[in-house]
Amino acid sequence: MPAIQLRNVSKVFEGETIVLTDFSLDIEEGEFLVLVGPSGCGKSTILRLIAGLEELTSGEIYIGDKMVNDLPPKNRDIAMVFQNYALYPHMTVFNNLAFGLKLSKMPKAEIETQVNEAARTLEISDLLQRMPKQLSGGQKQRVALGRAIVRKPAAFLFDEPLSNLDAKLRVQMRAEIKALHALLKTTTVYVTHDQVEAMTMGDRIVILNDGIIQQVGSPLDIYHQPKNTFVAGFIGTPPMNLLPVHLETGDKAAIEGTDFQLPLTSLVDKLKSVEGNELTLGVRPEDIMLVDPGDKRAHFHLPAYLAEPLGNETLVHFKLPSGEFVARSNAPLSSLATGKEVGVHFPEEKLHLFDRETGKAFGS
Ligand SMILES: Nc1ncnc2c1ncn2[C@@H]1O[C@H](COP(=O)(O)OP(=O)(O)OP(=O)(O)O)[C@@H](O)[C@H]1O
Ligand SMILES: [Mg+2]
Repeated sequence: MPAIQLRNVSKVFEGETIVLTDFSLDIEEGEFLVLVGPSGCGKSTILRLIAGLEELTSGEIYIGDKMVNDLPPKNRDIAMVFQNYALYPHMTVFNNLAFGLKLSKMPKAEIETQVNEAARTLEISDLLQRMPKQLSGGQKQRVALGRAIVRKPAAFLFDEPLSNLDAKLRVQMRAEIKALHALLKTTTVYVTHDQVEAMTMGDRIVILNDGIIQQVGSPLDIYHQPKNTFVAGFIGTPPMNLLPVHLETGDKAAIEGTDFQLPLTSLVDKLKSVEGNELTLGVRPEDIMLVDPGDKRAHFHLPAYLAEPLGNETLVHFKLPSGEFVARSNAPLSSLATGKEVGVHFPEEKLHLFDRETGKAFGS
């Protein structure tokens, strides 16, 4: 049985803002599920509905085998961690951690054991007597995590818990939360709009747009087989290049606004289901091959519009009448200088094809 189920959930806020319509999702026992999508797509609303901080307009939410629609938040056995750590400023770290346990009338000695155990897990034992204002951002976030784990809830809900931290600390805490999950194995729903966080942390990722699930899957499935152009353009840094193409004879495509032809011979099977000739072609920056201008493999030639060295690799940007694309290259920088003409090869087996109108991937 899934740990948490949302069944045909709808949520309409006052003023007629429709956030979710007939939304269903199963969250499996012990998994780390990441909800990712752009601002305003409904991520926090979903978490708040699970936690009981918002009321459903219609549908059902189950935690375990229990329908919790009418259960108040404190009886749902769920702990939520927010972006702003929301520690009690006038209480020590110890009392911040103990607060929820005191409310539940746990005996004092047991509270002490639980708090010390959580503090040890998070390596904050030496901070227990400090006040929140005496802590760094990372330490505060660790205390907020401690407050969640000390209760040993059935599930954790995280709402962008790392977005107040600087980039370096974010990477560190990301690893810590993942390690914590490996240790505790508690069902976790983690909300972020950062696709790197989603890719690195999730057992499964749910990609949302406008309250609608675009794709659910493991990070690598989603990366390699995006179901539509939204997902393709959301996952990856830089994300997949999307170029409008015109299907020529069934096994060739021309990039719109150019006379550049790309052979699609090995994609003939996929192309059988294509109606019309207007497609969107997707290619990941690392799949594009840059070759010498004289190299026969070049499908076309273009001057690099911008070369961005990253040390281990270079991002090379190109401009076309229909838009830009970027290639990731390991070639020496001298061969990739801005303005220099290069040969571009799009390997057929790495190309993705989408319906231009619906954005849906062919053959997926
Ligand atoms: N209490 C509310 N009353 C009315 N509309 C609301 C309320 N809370 C959220 N909304 C609207 O619901 C939509 C979804 O909001 P939500 O907070 O779930 O988005 P989100 O995906 O978490 O975005 P972000 O990444 O910016 O946090 C938005 O259009 C928002 O304006
Ligand atoms: Mg939010």
